[in-house]
Amino acid sequence: MKYIDSNSQNIKGHGGGCALGLKGQNKAGAQGNIGVETRADISASSSNSTISLSDRFGRNFPYLRLSITDICNFSCDYCLPDGYKKCNKISPLSLNEIRRLIDVFTKLGVNKVRLSGGEPTLRKDFIAIVKMIANNPAIKTLALTTNGYKLAQNAEKWRRAGITNINISIDSLNEQRFFAITGHNRLKEVLLGVEKAIKAGFNRVKINVVLLQNINDGEFTDFLALAKEKPVTIRFIELMQTGENLAYFKKFHISSREIKEQLIATNWIIKKRPFNAGPAQEFIHADYKGSIGIIAPYGKDFCKSCNRLRVSAKGDLHLCLFGKKGIALRHLLQDDEQKEQLSKLICSQLAFKCSSHFLAFGDSGITPHLASIGG
Ligand code: 5AD
Ligand code: SF4
Repeated sequence: MKYIDSNSQNIKGHGGGCALGLKGQNKAGAQGNIGVETRADISASSSNSTISLSDRFGRNFPYLRLSITDICNFSCDYCLPDGYKKCNKISPLSLNEIRRLIDVFTKLGVNKVRLSGGEPTLRKDFIAIVKMIANNPAIKTLALTTNGYKLAQNAEKWRRAGITNINISIDSLNEQRFFAITGHNRLKEVLLGVEKAIKAGFNRVKINVVLLQNINDGEFTDFLALAKEKPVTIRFIELMQTGENLAYFKKFHISSREIKEQLIATNWIIKKRPFNAGPAQEFIHADYKGSIGIIAPYGKDFCKSCNRLRVSAKGDLHLCLFGKKGIALRHLLQDDEQKEQLSKLICSQLAFKCSSHFLAFGDSGITPHLASIGG
């Protein structure tokens, strides 16, 4: 099976940075490394030309994952086993800082934003953030990743505010197991939330399942049954090593290979990946209302289709979930006049994006857990 790396033929060979031109017709190749050539890019952006973020490996980045808080009320064993512990006094980006950030990223070609956390819906100004981002005309998709604890009461409200797509974390369909993994006995409410989300009319409702050896790996058929009845995508995610979960990872990581083989053996078809799609593989089946996704970060070529950049709750740009550093952006989010400088900084940093993470070598970079910079 091959990943479709739809951009590579257009822009192979250029340096990283921002490229003037239509999406998919990146002119960076003609201009060499234009990571430093951002002044021209920026003035073009204000005259409404499309600018795309791309790197020296031919990948485009139309997708920003923005963590709006690192606080979470759940304590998933692989992420925050002892619950959230406040370890610094830095407040998350304010509404105004987020507005400036989104303004600049959309000028650089971002059209999809995912709000993540921690648990993003814990923010008191969550709705204001959603409305503000949704009002930006460049945003086509505004997605949310949530543990679903407030979903049942709020699905409609969040949809109305402008969330278009929603991912809900459910690692087990067994109440006790859900409780054991998350520290919260809330499976029923979260499942009710899924129902409400379907009714609220999100474009996509996805359920994230982290695969855990000898914990939930016997639940495959239960999740399949859910996909049969409901128009949801069940996404099986391989457990990833982070700075703080090594022992857990070693004990419970399991490959998604078997699931994939099982799907193929039972007439599931791999869906063609749309242009600029991310690394998930999606499977469809004629008898199922829903679909299945597989996220296999340890798989060969996983990073080839990377299409996203990340910004942490305190405003650091992360070129990779498992990168070696965050690049502080916050000092350039204080005034509307700084947008050009911010744009320049982001573009110049793209030249440093690596072709792949080093997870296979046991190197998870600086990420202590996914709650710290968003999954
Ligand atoms: N490995 C894989 N998935 C993880 N998530 C959080 N931490 C990890 C990890 N170490 C998942 C959450 C959520 C999504 C954002 O990432 O369960 O569904
Ligand atoms: Fe919270 Fe998500 Fe981490 Fe679970 S995986 S503790 S829901 S941030």
